[in-house]
Amino acid sequence: MSSNQINAIPSKGKVTWIAPSNIAIVKYWGKQALQEPINPSLSLTLNNAKTTTTVEFERISNNKSAQIKLWFNGAEKPEFLPKINRFIEQLTPFFPSIKNYYFTIHTSNSFPHSAGIASSASSMSAFALCLLSISNIIKGESPYPDLKTASTLARLGSGSACRSVFGGWNLWGEHTQIAESSNAYAINLNHQIHSNFMDVKDAILIISSDEKSVGSSAGHELMTNHWFKQSRIDMAIENTSNLINALSVGDWEQFIAITEHEALTLHGLMMSSNSGYLLLKPNTLLAIEAIRRYRLETGANIAFTLDAGPNLHILYPNKESEKIEVWINSHLRPLCENQFILFDSQGNGPELINYSHNNQ
Ligand code: PMV
Repeated sequence: MSSNQINAIPSKGKVTWIAPSNIAIVKYWGKQALQEPINPSLSLTLNNAKTTTTVEFERISNNKSAQIKLWFNGAEKPEFLPKINRFIEQLTPFFPSIKNYYFTIHTSNSFPHSAGIASSASSMSAFALCLLSISNIIKGESPYPDLKTASTLARLGSGSACRSVFGGWNLWGEHTQIAESSNAYAINLNHQIHSNFMDVKDAILIISSDEKSVGSSAGHELMTNHWFKQSRIDMAIENTSNLINALSVGDWEQFIAITEHEALTLHGLMMSSNSGYLLLKPNTLLAIEAIRRYRLETGANIAFTLDAGPNLHILYPNKESEKIEVWINSHLRPLCENQFILFDSQGNGPELINYSHNNQ
C-alpha cells in the first residue's frame, strides 16, 4: 500500500442515522441457529416511533483509550455496553477493520423512555446502519450501505430490527411462496401492496410501562420445546400467505381477521409455555372488547395487535382516521397509563442524516 493510500483512510469521523420501529402483523416468535426465526413474520414500518443514533469513530492509536462509550437520551449508560460489545464482536467477520476503531455512541428515542414501547428494532437497525456506513467510509465507498447487508447485521442485534431497514411492508423468514425470502434478512414487499394498505395509521395505547415479568429473549427461548411449536410454524406460514393476499388485493376484512388472530395467538403461546406467563393487563382486555364492539356497531376498518407486552397497537386506514381517532380519544384514552397514546403511521424507513470524516 502506498503512503497516499494510507493517508486516504479516514482516522476519524461520524455518522448519524434515524431508524424507525416496526409492528409485526404475523409475529416472529421462537428462534433457531444464529438469531434466525422459526417462522416467517410480516411487519409494517412506523414513522414517529424512531431512534436517532450518532456514532463517532476514531482509529485506535497507542496513546488513546479504546473504550466504547454510549449515551442514551443524554445520559451515559455503561450498562448498555455488554450488549453493544457482543453485537460489535458478531459484526467483526463482516467488517474486519472494526477492531481498529473505537466508537462513541449517542442515541435517543423519539418516544418517552419507559413508555413501554419496545425500542430494540429501531435502535439496533440505526446502530447497524451507522456501523455499515462507517465501514463504507473507511473503504472509501458511498456511506449509503447495501440494505440487504444492513438487514442481516441488524438481525444479529435484535431479530425484529432486520425489518426496520426498509419502509412500508416487510417479510422476514423463508416462505415457499416468496422465492427471495430468507431467514437471514428481511425483504421489502411494497411493490405488491394495494393502495388501501399504503397509508395505514397506528395508534399505540400505552396500557402499562411496567417492566415485563418475562422478556422477549426468554419468551423466544420457551418456544424451543413448546407443545404447539410445529402447529404455530404451520399457522404462521398460512397466515403469511393469507396476509400477503389481503395486502395485495386491498382486503381490510381479511387483514383484520389475520391481525387479531396473530396477536391473540402470540399471547396464547406465552400462556401455554412451560412455565406459562401472562403479559396482558385488565385494561388491555377492556380495550380489545371495546375495539371489537365499535367495529361491529360502525363497520369501521380497525384492528388491534400486540407486541410481547400489554400495550395495544390499533391499525386503521388514513381515510377513516378522523372518526376513529375521535373515538379512540374519548373511549380508549382513559384506559391508558397517564392517558398516553402515541399516534403513528406507516413510514418510509431509515434516513442517513449526516456524515463526516477527516479527509473530506
Ligand atoms: O426482536 P425481538 O427479539 O425483540 O422479538 C420481537 C418479537 C415480537 O415483537 C413479539 C414479534 C415481532 O415479530 O416483532
